[in-house]
Amino acid sequence: MTTRTEEAGPSGLASALVEAGALTSDWLPTFKAVPRELFVPDRIWPGIADGTRQTALVDRAKDPEAWFKAVYSDIPLTTQWDDGQHIGDGLGTTPTSSSSMPRMVFSMLADLDVREGQRALEIGTGTGWNAGLLSHRLGGANVVSVEYDEEVAKGARENLGRAGLSAVVIVGDGRAGCVGSAPYDRIIATCSVGSVPRTWVEQCRPGGVIVAPWGTEYGGEYVVRLVVADDGAAHGPFTRSSAFMRLRQQRTERPPFSAYLKGKEWPADGTRSMTALSPADIGGWLEQFVIGLQVAGAFWRAERYDGGSYTLWTYSTDTLSWASADYVPGASEYVVVQSGPRKLWDETEAAYRWWEEHDRPGFDRFGLTVDGDGERVWLDSPDRLVPLRSA
Ligand SMILES: C[S@@+](CC[C@H](N)C(=O)[O-])C[C@H]1O[C@@H](n2cnc3c(N)ncnc32)[C@H](O)[C@@H]1O
Repeated sequence: MTTRTEEAGPSGLASALVEAGALTSDWLPTFKAVPRELFVPDRIWPGIADGTRQTALVDRAKDPEAWFKAVYSDIPLTTQWDDGQHIGDGLGTTPTSSSSMPRMVFSMLADLDVREGQRALEIGTGTGWNAGLLSHRLGGANVVSVEYDEEVAKGARENLGRAGLSAVVIVGDGRAGCVGSAPYDRIIATCSVGSVPRTWVEQCRPGGVIVAPWGTEYGGEYVVRLVVADDGAAHGPFTRSSAFMRLRQQRTERPPFSAYLKGKEWPADGTRSMTALSPADIGGWLEQFVIGLQVAGAFWRAERYDGGSYTLWTYSTDTLSWASADYVPGASEYVVVQSGPRKLWDETEAAYRWWEEHDRPGFDRFGLTVDGDGERVWLDSPDRLVPLRSA
């Protein structure tokens, strides 16, 4: 079945975005005036709409129709792998630059809520499309975009020039913002963070808005929309689910799995118990987010076996603790083994039960505060902090 987007190019994509509630009427003229195709390189690895997977290379020179169709589909397009180290036509290991999914681009711009005359800072220029959209609304001199990768920044400047737009693109570590052009009325990150750099809050005016994808080490990611208060603290709710590439300096190296059992056979020195909480109940995006808020410095992996059973491993990033929970289809109790100073399954279960006791709140009831003391996640209001399970 061909969708309208595939048939109609830019206008089909615009209609799909309007229908999805992402492209608001104030952004429609900008969508038309700043065509995505001017910002997409010839070689791309298209993503899929509801996932983080990439598909095979599409090369404009070899298949211009497929390229055009990808550009005007509501999908992210990977434009760089492995910080530019990957060459060749295959998929690399980690996607490190892209043209973000149009629905996400316009939903986040709607969250940003820009007004004429405002000054905006973007972190993560990428192809320059988002910076171009902002410059069309605010004027090039009012938009500063920071990109860490020099080659990527060069490409973005060329793309902006071709589109007749002129955002100020600077090469640097976006965690530092761009103090020379501060203060800003609006700050938007188009790479995800595990914590919001304090500099962004400092460089944003009181009443200003910061929009950034925010995710935990454990998993689950949502866009947060912070408003800076007169006292310099920033507070705000999570607005939508997202799956962005991580800000380069906040990517975490996950220790190899061999670092945990230290050459011993499972269950090694672990303590065995039983749980009634099914590992299958905690794998959703929201559940991962809720667990990650409370179980800091931990990540998981599933080891799958024939017949649908699997082991859910939870590891602490300091390599000192691990837990395994064995899922068996149809069972009502599951074997758990825990090792190390942190009882990672107990923490996970306590986090999940806390969520259940609070009637399983959705992401939009959670919010974040960033101030001089760091950052904290809350439920419903800044004084109702989500508890931390780990030491
Ligand atoms: C998803 S892409 C951005 C998409 C882009 N806004 C667009 O419209 O095409 C994320 C970008 O963030 C950049 N990035 C990662 N860490 C960064 C950092 N510390 N400072 C600035 N840019 C960074 C990456 O190099 C990558 O180009």
